Amino acid sequence: MSATGELEELLARGELRVVGRIREASNAVLLCSVAYGGVSADCVYKPVKGERPLWDFPDGNLAQREVAAYLVSEATGWGLVPPTVLRDGPYGEGMVQLWIESGAEGSASGDGDSGDAGPPAGESGDGSGLLALVEGEEAGEGWKPVALADVGEGRTALLVHADDPRLRRLAVLDAVINNGDRKGGHLLPAPGGRLYGIDHGVTFHREDKLRTLLWGWAGEPLTDEAREVLTALAARLADGEPLATRLAELITPVELAAVRDRVADLLRTGVHPRPSGQWPAIPWPPV
Ligand SMILES: Nc1ncnc2c1ncn2[C@@H]1O[C@H](COP(=O)(O)OP(=O)(O)O)[C@@H](O)[C@H]1O
Ligand SMILES: [Mg+2]
Repeated sequence: MSATGELEELLARGELRVVGRIREASNAVLLCSVAYGGVSADCVYKPVKGERPLWDFPDGNLAQREVAAYLVSEATGWGLVPPTVLRDGPYGEGMVQLWIESGAEGSASGDGDSGDAGPPAGESGDGSGLLALVEGEEAGEGWKPVALADVGEGRTALLVHADDPRLRRLAVLDAVINNGDRKGGHLLPAPGGRLYGIDHGVTFHREDKLRTLLWGWAGEPLTDEAREVLTALAARLADGEPLATRLAELITPVELAAVRDRVADLLRTGVHPRPSGQWPAIPWPPV
């Protein structure tokens, strides 16, 4: 079994013990340990019962969307979402996801163009090394502009993100899963140069809800790699394919059709999507 398969088994079958609660979360997010066959790991458990109702998503299935996001990420081969399963736990059914020990140092060893650049001189970053607010209107070498932000006292600053291939892949994944909440705190640079995205409860809506900080490539051609990955993904989303069958258990038929449409649109246009104009494109606060 693959390493990811073993982690999925650990998360799905292991004994789940709650060790704490993450306070700043908007839903119930419990820090747990999970143990199976002599192996243990830290994880988060988000019980469906602890999901805060949202006006635009049906109640009681954000956990399913988190798992669907993981499955699509795995299908891309990019491994951008930590292993995530749906299972029963002390507070009923929920999603259980491997805990990622994050640290900004993880981003420094990334394969990004700007991996070693750090935030532009003298400006504030978010701790991940991937976002920054800069004065003036130039993003600077190795950075991509997102938007001008009002930072109070009549001042504006330019919000920028790193021109980093890992973020660029995540931007493609977000376009596919229609992520409504890609903010700075949902980017976890891990040791070894990997980057993970978390918090995928508000995804897979049938309407365009893409709300993200990662607009730096909007309108730019997709990389050759992204086009290849999307072509392979389109095949795996066809009726009867295992991925499609699993997704059909987690999201509605209309939502699954919308995933196929988004992949087809990306391949047809060949560019990173632009904001739709129908929906606030940037999560605020961005971190
Ligand atoms: N898999 C994970 N690894 C490490 N930290 C996590 C993980 N999942 C969540 N967290 C931490 O918990 C916080 C709240 O989780 P999040 O998924 O954003 O919950 P909510 O749905 O309430 O916004 C995150 O901002 C992050 O700090
Ligand atoms: Mg969150």
